This record gives sequence, structure tokens and C-alpha cells, in this order.
Amino acid sequence: MRQTTFISKEELQSEQAIAEAIAKENEGLDLKYVVETFGCQMNVRDSETIKGELNEMGYTETFDKSDADLILYNTCCVRDHAEKRLMGNIGALKELKEQKPGLIIGICGCMMQQEGMAKKLLKRFSHVSLIFGTNVLHRLPELLEAVRNGERVILTDRSFDAIAEDLPQLRDNPRSAFVNIMYGCDNYCSYCIVPYVRGRERSRAPKDIRNEIVSLCKSGITEITLLGQNVNSYGNDGSTGMTFSELLHCVADVPGLKRLRFMSSHPKDLSEDVMQAIATLPNVCHHVHLPVQSGNDEILKRMNRRYTREAYLSIVKRLRELVPDIEFTTDIIVGFPGETEEAFSDTLSLVDSVGFAAAFTFAYSPRAGTVAARMEEQIPEPVKKRRLRELNELQARKTVENNQTYIGHVGEVLIEGFDERADVTMLYGKYSNFKMVYFPGNPALLNQYVTVRVTGINKNSLMGEMIDA
Ligand code: 5AD
Ligand code: SF4
Repeated sequence: MRQTTFISKEELQSEQAIAEAIAKENEGLDLKYVVETFGCQMNVRDSETIKGELNEMGYTETFDKSDADLILYNTCCVRDHAEKRLMGNIGALKELKEQKPGLIIGICGCMMQQEGMAKKLLKRFSHVSLIFGTNVLHRLPELLEAVRNGERVILTDRSFDAIAEDLPQLRDNPRSAFVNIMYGCDNYCSYCIVPYVRGRERSRAPKDIRNEIVSLCKSGITEITLLGQNVNSYGNDGSTGMTFSELLHCVADVPGLKRLRFMSSHPKDLSEDVMQAIATLPNVCHHVHLPVQSGNDEILKRMNRRYTREAYLSIVKRLRELVPDIEFTTDIIVGFPGETEEAFSDTLSLVDSVGFAAAFTFAYSPRAGTVAARMEEQIPEPVKKRRLRELNELQARKTVENNQTYIGHVGEVLIEGFDERADVTMLYGKYSNFKMVYFPGNPALLNQYVTVRVTGINKNSLMGEMIDA
């Protein structure tokens, strides 16, 4: 059994004291920050912590960079284009820094954890003075203090494996929240950089997770998404005394929790118990994001995914037996090294037979340091592009097919936003199974649950009408 380590109360208190001292210095100065977030929900969640810490230090949020005293990019490195975009963004801030020498420019997140990256950026961009990684958010007060004293600071730690509880957070979505249940990843899919940048897999204690959800629901939040790189392996190391399905049972009865979601699921660890929990717990949503990555066994093996096409299809089948209205979404990579036309056609046929509600599709992007990046038989870019196009065309047809089955469907929708159109205000929101529907209505209903009947379809969503208010 593995022992999870937690950052000590003393260490957190000493950071807190620094934060309070900074807040005192900032009094009356009206200092502002912009935090710009790239990548996945993990980063979105981390940015909420960073913003909460900055608020405690007397900064307030703005979305206007020219008005900011601190600009922070929270980066992703899962695919290549993110890197180019970041370089462009940082370069563009040089002028702003010249006009406003006191401006602090920082970069954090996954990309900073890549070997050599932090040093390279600090060297290339003299206007950047703060760089930190994904595992040291609790030390932001100390880092910012050093930067405010004129230092240029780097803190990235790839071996880090502790959990910091009770950090401040700024949540700006009043209806829905992400809750981490675990950090890091130990799966080492051969294409993936995440295990190298987010550290060893470690699970939070059930009581910490439950307490966080209780307090979120007390504040009016009704939808919780449990987050982890592979939520199905929660507690597999024995450190929490609970498996993922037990955790679902442990948190599902929190008062006020109407919708419980989770992501991502790894097919190799999705147990019968979890399927039963989805089927029986009334507020667990009928949607599973289940990345398949490829429909070909040889490629799955080379990806180190540790399941077969058949095993994947049997999970889908079993879940549909237990939960007839369940929807699946997925992630797929095309052009993985060694992917023949035949292997690619296995992916197409899997997509055709599963009928995903939606698929997030990617051309394979070699990441330095991963096993797949060193494989021979890399696929030429034009071939990857063509396969991606073919796959997207197929999925677009499948999405429409899936949408068509909803005509006449009636169910409860959580309203997430609205579009003011020329003639009418359209509200939008999701059914429990993640299908998005647009319907005319009053924006005052934002964040409420209403019953909606589907009357038509769009390319990627449904059209409907409210049948109560
Ligand atoms: N190239 C392309 N796509 C990738 N993903 C992860 N690593 C890579 C890579 N090197 C995709 C996977 C994963 C999603 C978050 O990003 O499909 O599920
Ligand atoms: Fe998320 Fe992975 Fe990107 Fe980090 S590298 S932000 S974990 S997708």
C-alpha cells in the first residue's frame, strides 16, 4: 500500500502569512491580474486555485491585459500547436512590459514541467520573471514575493508527489464545479506527456473530497464533475481505503447535489461496480467520456493502452444494457506511428459501430521524451491530416444520426447560458447525458433546471422548447 503525503499545516500557514503581508502592501493600490488558461479541465481547476491565491494577496481579476499588473499564462503541452501559440502570446507582451515596467509576466502549467522548457523560456523572453510548475501552486505567495523583490524565479518539480489541501479558490461558475479526486498519472500511454509533467498518480482522501463537495453545494452549486487523468483508478494504490465506485456512493448523497459527473475514464479500469453505480445512483449522469484512441489492437498495444477493441466494445455494450439512455464521448488519435490504412479503417469502423455522441479527434503529435516519439514508422503529416478529415466527416454524420434519435425526447436541462439572437433569446444547456439543447426562453432562468422537449436538430446540438418554467 502506498502512503500519500500531504503538505504540512505549518508550510501552508507560512505561505498564508506571506500572502497576508503582500495583501497589506497592496492595500489601496488596486492591482489587477489576468490569468489565461490553456488545455484541459485540470488546468482550468488549477487556475481557480491560482486566482483564489492572487485574490488573497490583494489582487483582483481583469480580462484586459493593458489594465493588468500581473499576467499569467497557464500552459498545456499535450500537443504541439499549444507551444507555438504560447510563444506568440508571450512575445506579444514585450511592448506592454516596456510601457509598464512594473508589470509581472509569468508562465505556469504543464509546459513548464517539460525538461529544459522553463530555462529556455526565461532565456528567450527577458520580460518574463515568474515560472512555476503544476505541483507547487501552494508556494505561489513565496514565489511572487521574490519576484516583487526584483528576482526572476523558476520553480518546477517533476518528482513532486504530495497533495496540498485547503488552498484558496476563485470559482466563477455558480452552478457547476470541478473537483479533483486525484492528481498525476501513472499509465504511460506511449504518446502522452502527462505522466512526465503532472507527476506520480496520487488520490485525495475521501473526506477531503466530500467536504469540498458539501461546501460547494452549500454555496448553491448543483453539478459536480470529479476530475482525474484516470478516475477509474482512484484508490487503486490502496491509499484511500476506497475504490472509485465506493467514492461515487460516498459523495452522491451530498445535499443539493443534482448532477454528479466524472472524467476521464480509462477503459482498462472501468469496473462492473462503476457501471452499477452509474445505473443505480440517481444523480450520477448518464454520460461517460471514454477515450478509445484507436480501434485497432496492434495500435492500442503500441499505445500501451492495455485494452483491446473487443474489451472496449464490451464495456459500451454492458453500459447500454444497464443504462439505456447513456451517451458516450471519446478521444481519438489518428496517424500514430505504424498506423496502416487498414489499422485506420479499424478506427473508422469502431466509430461507426459505437455511435459516439461526440468525438475529440487529434492528429498524432510527437512529444519529446515519450516512447512513441522515438518509434520508427512516423506517419507523414499530409496522411495524418487526410485521416483526420475522413474521421471527422464520419463523426459529423454519426453526430447527426445520434441527434435525430432525440426528436420528441423530453428531459431535464440545466441552463448554462444564452444567445441574444436578432429575433429571440435562445437559452442553452445540457441533459444529464451531456446532449446540448437550444430553446427560446428568459435569461433569468440561467442556472436553473427546466424540462425541454426536442423539436429539431443542429449540426452539433439539439433544438427544443420548454414545457415548464
Ligand atoms: N498527440 C495527439 N493527441 C494526443 N493526446 C494526448 N497526447 C497526444 C499526442 N501526443 C490526446 C488524447 C488524449 C487527449 C486529451 O489528447 O486523445 O485523450
Ligand atoms: Fe491537461 Fe495534459 Fe494539457 Fe496538462 S498537458 S493541461 S494535463 S491536457
